[in-house]
Amino acid sequence: MMKPYLLLAFVSFSYAFPTSSWDQLSHRLMETRMKRDIHGRQDPVAVVTGLTQIPDADHPFMAPGPTDQRGPCPGLNVLANHGYLPRSGIVTQADIVSGVSEGFNMAPDLAGFLSLVSIAYDGDLVTGKFSIGGPDSRTSLLGALQNILGVEGGLDYHAGIEGDASATRDDAYFGDDHTMIPELYAQMKSIAANYGGLYTLEAMKDLQQLRHQQSVQTNPTFYFVPLASALDIGAKAFITVFFTNGTYGDGGVPNEESISSFFGAQLLPNGSYQFVPERFPDNWYRRGTPFTLLDGIGQILDFYSTRDIPFGGNAGAVNTFEPLDIPALTNVNGMACFIRDAIQANVPSSVSQPIQVVEQVISSVVSVVDPLFENFGCPAFNASETQAYAAINELQNGS
Ligand code: HEM
Repeated sequence: MMKPYLLLAFVSFSYAFPTSSWDQLSHRLMETRMKRDIHGRQDPVAVVTGLTQIPDADHPFMAPGPTDQRGPCPGLNVLANHGYLPRSGIVTQADIVSGVSEGFNMAPDLAGFLSLVSIAYDGDLVTGKFSIGGPDSRTSLLGALQNILGVEGGLDYHAGIEGDASATRDDAYFGDDHTMIPELYAQMKSIAANYGGLYTLEAMKDLQQLRHQQSVQTNPTFYFVPLASALDIGAKAFITVFFTNGTYGDGGVPNEESISSFFGAQLLPNGSYQFVPERFPDNWYRRGTPFTLLDGIGQILDFYSTRDIPFGGNAGAVNTFEPLDIPALTNVNGMACFIRDAIQANVPSSVSQPIQVVEQVISSVVSVVDPLFENFGCPAFNASETQAYAAINELQNGS
């Protein structure tokens, strides 16, 4: 509803100005309003009518304690910092599905898929738990003894589902793949500046291409292969479609005020940034419609087909990028089936479990993933993709 003082202003202006002046004035007012929005002072009521404000009173911010796990995903970190996920950062699939739905309106099929692959690659198949940060004996039935069987690395574990060319995290080659790097945050902000300060999907696509180029040029072990790389692309889209204040495309404003709070990027007087624990911005409203697995795959395809970001890897030295030898990915079903196959084709080389349980990992993941992907009409598993992966892995290993 229009606020009374705005209504009054409208009435008196319309008496005072002839139509053409009124047109000019209303145009100027609109411009001022847009500038205000870009700088983060948008009126949340006007933008977000009908949406749910997050966090609610039951989910106050609390900085993580010394034993609480936090990792490469700002979305999960912020949910844990507000208690939408267990504050310990040790989670189950059920925790994730309800937490991401309540906090961000992520649909259960996408949340189910992401948590399932996290358990399989980075967590414990028996307890169904994983750590949203580093390895932690609390994920395993066997506790510390689990290390004999294989590391449950948590989301920090590289090449499980954590990948290279991330928005604000370094490649694992440089040491730490999970901490927000202020300089990378500033780089992302400078790309948004090309789009009027807004973190739009186009801006995030530019960022993906830049991070891909930077990894080719600086990381001899750069590895950009699904599953991790597809999720890495999807995560760039998440910045726009989830962190925006309100539904993107329907009044949402992906501005600096929202985005910096989610990344824990605190601006210092000298213009640089420092990391502080992630928190929901003030006056923030989650998107109005659930974001599904189909939406996510659609975004990955859109990024992949509109920017130069091929799947593949460097062959042990910088600037030696070899693309993965796969058929062109031109539609959502093709991309969906390729991602599904990647789980089967590439699991043995990347899963954080000993070889004895790899078979078990594959069959349990595939049996749960397949029903999620059944609407995409995927043909039976394409074994030739295994060869493409084997070739790229050999290149990487120098054999
Ligand atoms: C549902 C379970 C989820 C899992 C298992 C998960 C896992 C991950 C992982 C492993 C990464 C690192 C990817 C990489 O190295 O490139 C990541 C990054 C990211 N995630 Fe999540 N995520 C989940 C949900 C979410 C949600 C709900 C959001 C947003 C609301 C989100 C936003 C992001 C963003 C923006 C990044 C990129 C961070 C960066 O590169 O700087 N994620 N996530």
